[in-house]
Amino acid sequence: MQKIRKAVFPVAGLGSRFLPATKAQPKEMLPVVDKPLIQYAVEEAVAAGITEMVFITGRNKRAIEDHFDKAYELESELAAAGKDALLHAIRHILPKSVSCIFIRQSEPLGLGHAVLCARPVVGDEPFAVLLADDFMDTDEGVPPVMAQMAALYEYEQATILSVQDVPRAQTRQYGIVSAKPYKKDVEQVNAIVEKPDPEQAPSTLAVVGRYVLQARVFDHLAKLGRGAGGEIQLTDGIAALMQEQRVLAYRYQGTRYDCGSKLGYLKATLAMGMKHHETGAAFTEHVKGLQQ
Ligand code: G1P
Repeated sequence: MQKIRKAVFPVAGLGSRFLPATKAQPKEMLPVVDKPLIQYAVEEAVAAGITEMVFITGRNKRAIEDHFDKAYELESELAAAGKDALLHAIRHILPKSVSCIFIRQSEPLGLGHAVLCARPVVGDEPFAVLLADDFMDTDEGVPPVMAQMAALYEYEQATILSVQDVPRAQTRQYGIVSAKPYKKDVEQVNAIVEKPDPEQAPSTLAVVGRYVLQARVFDHLAKLGRGAGGEIQLTDGIAALMQEQRVLAYRYQGTRYDCGSKLGYLKATLAMGMKHHETGAAFTEHVKGLQQ
């Protein structure tokens, strides 16, 4: 039985919806309270037992590499100033057992192409894909979403897509699946289509940014032409994989914030600000005051 050891983070996108904030920094470095989006996603992978993080980067993404690297000057300044808690926070961004690999996607040919760039590192193993701008929050006591999916993978040994229902008017923003019930919170996918018009969408069950994929998907991605939006689509690779193997849709436990949009990002900030160990109590009081 195979476990998932590797996670792919496609982070080459331009982040144009957040300009000018993303003019000189990656959108994945936008903070929710005090941690960048990419760190939340990587922590989710770590919590799922994943030990190799593969970042598919592009131009202007150096800050992500720096973030997961040692910051000697900052460490010595914080140490000299006796700021131990902050020193600990920047030294322990990743457990020692975790390694990071950066691969440059030189042309923005789409999500499917970005995932295919990870092939030399992932090889023949099942792997996770996490889109950092789909921010996943779970209640205390509930495992993070990728950990839920890794557990399901260990049992099912099948491709798993995280899904949620969306309003029909929004199907154009997502990969949409048609699926039949399989077991609690899990459905078997029989079709998947990228960003269909609401009238054509086979359902309103949308894929959000967490996947557990079988390595076979690389063979299909390598053969694909451009799909929706002129891009090489991960959705099309999964559609081809589905002809040979089981693909499951998993209704995860948790709340997703679409941090690729300003509104979703603000909602994530509000939710996390109200939970944060430093700001939680005072910020919650402030928010309640606004409602009166
Ligand atoms: C990508 C995928 C889409 C998926 C979505 C989830 O689209 O292509 O299938 O539903 O992520 O966030 P993007 O949001 O990058 O346009």
